Amino acid sequence: MRNRIVAGNWKMNKTFEEAEGLVFEIVDFLEENEIINTEVVICPPALYLELASDAAVESQVEIGAQNVYARESGAYTGEISAPMLQSMEIAYCIIGHSERRKYFKESNELLAEKVIACLNNDIRPIFCIGETLDEREAGNHFKVVEDQLNEALFNLSSGEFQNIVIAYEPVWAIGTGVTATSAQAQEMHAYIRSLLAGKYGSDVADQTRILYGGSCNALNAAELFSNPDVDGGLIGGASLIGHDFIEIIKSFPDAS
Ligand code: 13P
Repeated sequence: MRNRIVAGNWKMNKTFEEAEGLVFEIVDFLEENEIINTEVVICPPALYLELASDAAVESQVEIGAQNVYARESGAYTGEISAPMLQSMEIAYCIIGHSERRKYFKESNELLAEKVIACLNNDIRPIFCIGETLDEREAGNHFKVVEDQLNEALFNLSSGEFQNIVIAYEPVWAIGTGVTATSAQAQEMHAYIRSLLAGKYGSDVADQTRILYGGSCNALNAAELFSNPDVDGGLIGGASLIGHDFIEIIKSFPDAS
């Protein structure tokens, strides 16, 4: 069975003290409650990675970055490299989030380079793909997702690909309160898995975790996660509230 993942993407939220409180709320919960077959990942702003990494050091919680630059080091003011993340024991990095594609004009070409930088430094990418509302309404959603995979990930070898986590995040569902229906999520996740099987074979496809993201919350997580091809979630807004995030962690029927 694939180990599931519930990952919190805090985006650009929380002061230092708030971040400290939230990290410890989650770490403390997992110290007192055993959650099985589920990895819990917290992706705070880069400024708080050290705080989160220290707090989580002896816990089941893994820490992820929200971004990385593709080069190893050098004159790239403001950027953070994969070797730096590795030196802080950061396990995951979100790459290809639609907000970075939109506001920071990140292309699939750059994203492919970021993926390589992470893999070279033992950091597992959580690679985001997903269509806009216009693309879905035009019936192009499968093609959009296929192109994103082809252009940013399918240059990887099968061995490299085994370290990739996919997050299907329909752009129209992010931060809108409009979540994909359970059937829409399952349909797309199964399609993504079929593309992985076509490219890398059924073993790799079966092992790859495909997370759902987009207005996933404490009330709808259980239904979304009940689908056979939904291996957890990449949670935005609801990951900022400790109680809600913990409810989502508990949403798999066999989690405890
Ligand atoms: P929301 O859960 O706030 O819709 O955000 C999802 C997301 O973008 C996670 O990366």
